[in-house]
Amino acid sequence: MSALPSVAPAIVLTGQGGTENMKLDNIPLPEIGPDDVMIRIRAAGVNRADTVQRQGGYPPPPGESEILGLEVAGTIAAVGANVSQYKLGDNVCALLAGGGYATYCRVNVAQVLPIPKGYSMVQAAALPEVFMTVWTNVFDLGRLQAGETFLVHGGSSGIGTAAIMLAKHRGATVITTAGSAEKCAACEKLGATRAINYKEEDFVDVITNELGTNIDVVLDMVGGDYMQRNLGVMNPGGRHVSIAFLAGPMANISVIDIMMKRLTITGSTLRARPVEFKGAVAQSVRDNVWPALEAGAFEPVIDSTFPLAQAAEAHHRIESSVHIGKIILTVD
Ligand SMILES: NC(=O)c1ccc[n+]([C@@H]2O[C@H](COP(=O)([O-])OP(=O)(O)OC[C@H]3O[C@@H](n4cnc5c(N)ncnc54)[C@H](OP(=O)(O)O)[C@@H]3O)[C@@H](O)[C@H]2O)c1
Repeated sequence: MSALPSVAPAIVLTGQGGTENMKLDNIPLPEIGPDDVMIRIRAAGVNRADTVQRQGGYPPPPGESEILGLEVAGTIAAVGANVSQYKLGDNVCALLAGGGYATYCRVNVAQVLPIPKGYSMVQAAALPEVFMTVWTNVFDLGRLQAGETFLVHGGSSGIGTAAIMLAKHRGATVITTAGSAEKCAACEKLGATRAINYKEEDFVDVITNELGTNIDVVLDMVGGDYMQRNLGVMNPGGRHVSIAFLAGPMANISVIDIMMKRLTITGSTLRARPVEFKGAVAQSVRDNVWPALEAGAFEPVIDSTFPLAQAAEAHHRIESSVHIGKIILTVD
């Protein structure tokens, strides 16, 4: 193993706002603590949250890297004194609280997972953020069971594609919304029974009148006026899980629906949770999702890849919402 350099390329933010603030620069390698590993990054996932952080709206938790990037795949380049689970050169992927748009990152070993057998670095970098988010929200908070009906909005997003595949694999009936015919076709190919083009159809109307069904679990990233519309199509005992509010954080909802149908309204954010929680989710995903990935039951949807130096183009693509699945940065 060659000696580590003192500096290495990363995307730094020179200010808040547009992508003109994203600059490739050489920065010092991160320092690792006794429970950390350093990863030589080969691929990094791009998430909608990164664009919000770039604009100044989603700062990293205190003490975490200011560099963008919530998930990576690469090889172990250094290990802390207490780390015995991995050795130098192991191929891993990891959930980060920041620091992924770089050549090296630091992360607590609890948030590290081995790369699924047969997976490329690009595929592995597409896993941690979305599969852990979907797992903890849909199955822990939402308690989705086989035979239930599941609605996920934004079905063609990184989160949405993972949610469709995991819920289908669990044995649920999946209904989703997406913003074009092409996106809807992709969602149905992944396992959605019905993908609703919300720009042309009313999802409440389709669920109620065309499908004649109700929903047990909703994974919602839209918020705003979707909230009450979701509650209106839910079954008694339904669970509504919010993970974002693309249409706004405020909602006008009927307390009557909550009472009469005994609904659970919940939600979460993954980034700010403590290492212990993230480690527990990582272990659940390793136990429950990794075997399915290795058996080929489903695989992450990769929309496109960009070299690290073109991270700004990757942001343009995710902000344009033309993508289907995950956008990944590759690191030489
Ligand atoms: N709480 C958490 O822990 C957590 C963790 C990860 C991600 N998230 C959130 O989950 C969301 C998805 O993340 P991602 O990285 O997968 O992003 P993404 O791929 O960019 O997905 C966002 C999708 O939402 C759809 N959309 C945008 N505005 C919309 C609107 N007003 N109404 C309906 N749909 C809209 C877009 O597709 P259409 O063409 O269909 O509009 C887009 O594909 C983001 O908001 C992210 O912040 C939350």
